[in-house]
Amino acid sequence: MANILAVGNLVLDTILITDHFPEEDEELRADRRLRQPGGNAANSLYVLSQLGHQTSLVTTLAADQEARLLTQALQQRGIDLSHIQRKLKGATPSSYILLNQQGGSRTIVHYRDLPEVDFEHFAKIEIEAYDWLHFEGRNVPELKGMLNIARTFCPDTPRSLELEKPREGIEALLNQVNVLFTGKHYAQAKGHADAPECIQSLRELAPQTLIICTWGEAGAWWQAPDGALKHVPAQKVRVKDTLGAGDTFLAGVIHKLLASAAPGEAVRYGSELAARKCRQHGLDNLLAPLADDLPLAKAEDISAAKATIAKVPGRDTSVILIRDKDADTIKAYVNNCPHQQVPLNEAYKVDVNPFAKTLKCSVHDAWFKVEDGECVDGPCLGDHLQPFPIRIDEAGNIFAAIDD
Ligand code: FRU
Repeated sequence: MANILAVGNLVLDTILITDHFPEEDEELRADRRLRQPGGNAANSLYVLSQLGHQTSLVTTLAADQEARLLTQALQQRGIDLSHIQRKLKGATPSSYILLNQQGGSRTIVHYRDLPEVDFEHFAKIEIEAYDWLHFEGRNVPELKGMLNIARTFCPDTPRSLELEKPREGIEALLNQVNVLFTGKHYAQAKGHADAPECIQSLRELAPQTLIICTWGEAGAWWQAPDGALKHVPAQKVRVKDTLGAGDTFLAGVIHKLLASAAPGEAVRYGSELAARKCRQHGLDNLLAPLADDLPLAKAEDISAAKATIAKVPGRDTSVILIRDKDADTIKAYVNNCPHQQVPLNEAYKVDVNPFAKTLKCSVHDAWFKVEDGECVDGPCLGDHLQPFPIRIDEAGNIFAAIDD
């Protein structure tokens, strides 16, 4: 566990989840609205605190109601706020975000009029108490002084910088950090066609820096000083929400580098964590196993002579698993009798007739074919059990394959 200090913006994110991206002048109704703390450094620190670190955010805070909400939320996220700089003028920075459910893209409109942290404020912090110092690459004149004192007073403490967008004069600061995070947004704004080209041009400015450049679903490229350029592809996942994926990646990399992992391992871990984030809304419980990562049962335990009832993790549903011995496959049905919408094992266990290849609802003795779930005897003759989608991995674990 390490002590990590990050300097950056704290933002109130208002997220509208929509089922498509609107046309200009369209009137579109959102399916859901979420309000949560945001800002790159604040997001990364939240992930780092879930990874077990002590985290502290250096940011400015307005004097409005939103600032109070954010303070509470950050405290709940385990982020220390003792180095906050209060500002009397200006409002809490806000982002209005459209999250397109088809593909999980996020479109951000950001508004801010709150001044950013100044050098004098930063200079009063006891930075010696931290094991890692991270800076958002903004506010160049103040950042210059911050990096300078960090390098002078804590030469051995790793410093990282996020270069999200081009900012005047920022290139002169790149050689002051050990780790530089950049990405497609910066690279394209600078006219680079791809990550390798971007890293090559940054290399001249920062010869001693580990440079990491992410490129969305194409993955991440990195290069250690004097090392070869390497690539880690992004994991293929069903993307639900990309908001904060880059901030999550950065946290994963810092976490591994703090544990003395090699850069390649750190980048790989950051990518895995970012992929994990893309599969869920928000950043909560990022390390908890996803419901569809927990197996329902082992294929070898499913027999043709006995019905196995398994609860679907994270859902209010159970399934019936049974082997279809003719087809040598496993059949899965929602554990719900079409006769009276009750679980088949409501009154007693689910009996199986392995010769007729049928199974019986314990409530009113309806018999269903294992092969296709059709009721062949009983009160709901001709009705069907509802098939339940499953997948079986190479190790023989059966998982729910629900797509929502
Ligand atoms: C995501 C994010 C949002 C915030 C915006 C600021 O990376 O930090 O939480 O509103 O970017 O640019």
